[in-house]
Amino acid sequence: MISIIVAVSEDLGIGKGNDLLWHLPEDMKRFKRLTTGKTVIMGRRTWQSLPRKPLTGRRNIVITDIPGEEFEGAESAASITDAASKCKKDEEAFIIGGASIYRQFMPLADRLYITHVHKKTPADVFFPEIDPKIWKVIEREDFKASEPDRILYTYVIYGRRT
Ligand SMILES: NC(=O)c1ccc[n+]([C@@H]2O[C@H](COP(=O)([O-])OP(=O)(O)OC[C@H]3O[C@@H](n4cnc5c(N)ncnc54)[C@H](OP(=O)(O)O)[C@@H]3O)[C@@H](O)[C@H]2O)c1
Repeated sequence: MISIIVAVSEDLGIGKGNDLLWHLPEDMKRFKRLTTGKTVIMGRRTWQSLPRKPLTGRRNIVITDIPGEEFEGAESAASITDAASKCKKDEEAFIIGGASIYRQFMPLADRLYITHVHKKTPADVFFPEIDPKIWKVIEREDFKASEPDRILYTYVIYGRRT
């Protein structure tokens, strides 16, 4: 099973200058809780953006076009299909970004764990459209970040309609 996990702004922005748009500690804790013990798959630029690498307690897979490239504490994959083939069919693997990897995995994903952040923030990378003809809401929970940000966001889990 392939799950995508991402935090998006109101206009689907997800990052700027190879960094995240917000610091949402509660969302990060949820990310850690959901992904611990699982495989996480990411693009080389997202790997580079991690303040601490690898993500502990998880199997890290980094996708790169660079032949022979190695990432300390992570496995490398040469393509989307190479990364997917490294995962067992009966386990949940999380696609954790960035934009190029989300776009390519969208047609293969079974589930989307989206944190909809109710804010418009300038971004230079975006998540693809979540087509309501393809995706239905399975779970939804509104949340308000604690002080000082008090940003409103909604956790939504989407599944495929068919
Ligand atoms: N809001 C969120 O939840 C969230 C989560 C994650 C990331 N982000 C943000 O997303 C941004 C990064 O996204 P991005 O699109 O620039 O980079 P990315 O998707 O993280 O990584 C792109 C790199 O992945 C490799 N790659 C992609 N497709 C490939 C393929 N089919 N075969 C082989 N290698 C492939 C290439 O690496 P090589 O150049 O090494 O070949 C490419 O340069 C940052 O701003 C980050 O903060 C946001």
